[in-house]
Amino acid sequence: MAETQPTNPLDAPDAAPAAVAREAAAVIADRTGVARHDIALTLGSGWGKAADEIGETIALIDAAEVPGFSKPALDGHSGTLRSIRLSSGAHALIIGARTHYYEGHGVRRVVHSVRTAAATGARVMVLTNGAGGLRPEWAPGTPVLIRDHINLTADSPLEGATFVDLTDLYSPRLRALVQGVERLDEGVYVQFRGPHYETPAEVRMAGVIGGDIVGMSTALEAIAAREAGMEVLGLSLITNPAAGISPTPLDHGEVIAAGKAAEDRLAELLARSVAAVAAELGLGGAPADGAREA
Ligand code: HPA
Repeated sequence: MAETQPTNPLDAPDAAPAAVAREAAAVIADRTGVARHDIALTLGSGWGKAADEIGETIALIDAAEVPGFSKPALDGHSGTLRSIRLSSGAHALIIGARTHYYEGHGVRRVVHSVRTAAATGARVMVLTNGAGGLRPEWAPGTPVLIRDHINLTADSPLEGATFVDLTDLYSPRLRALVQGVERLDEGVYVQFRGPHYETPAEVRMAGVIGGDIVGMSTALEAIAAREAGMEVLGLSLITNPAAGISPTPLDHGEVIAAGKAAEDRLAELLARSVAAVAAELGLGGAPADGAREA
């Protein structure tokens, strides 16, 4: 029946997510002319400007043209995928097209960008987000390194009896590299389903069970990245004190504004961190010291 035809290949009953990711990676290689990407970054609220600082943009693709990525939402806003060459010669894939779990399209679509990144060859997945902070000393605009997570979505991107170890999911060596760029606090990220913000009681619960940061992304993506064999780096921008931590109600406009205000600093932090990671891992086959022109 024509009307039951899924518009996204991941929604087909017999879909194989890994195969769709490989198809997507082939399209990215074709459209960018870059056979292999070394590192991938998903840029959340406040982190977008980093794309301009990391290196030279080689190609910009409309994500809706890549298999498995969601078609533009009602407002016509569709995400982009951007291929960037670092001064080391390494290639970074910037994913500006995050599908959130709260959109209700299922977890396969949420983690498709991460699986695609792995299929392009990326060994490192950098996940960034805007989030609420539980520590009162974290003013809006504070970047925090994710040390671990608690997944409160009651869902998993893994299908079947796929037992994946998540000890050290947020790579200690990548965190150490970022700490060498700028000294940051570290915290445990708690993923809620959203899209509503948490109640003060839920935020208190997140603190009692060991959380420091609350948000609506990242944990499911990190699990898929680990399954795909990538090393994960997670960074949160604290856009607001979590509900009940500050006496004022949460406002989405203020969350966006906090991201905008912090973006220059975050762009520099992320660009320097990515250069440090590329140098440490030997991505691109040359030291990231500017000695070689791209
Ligand atoms: N909670 C969940 N997600 C968020 C928040 C928050 O307080 N701020 C920005 N994203």
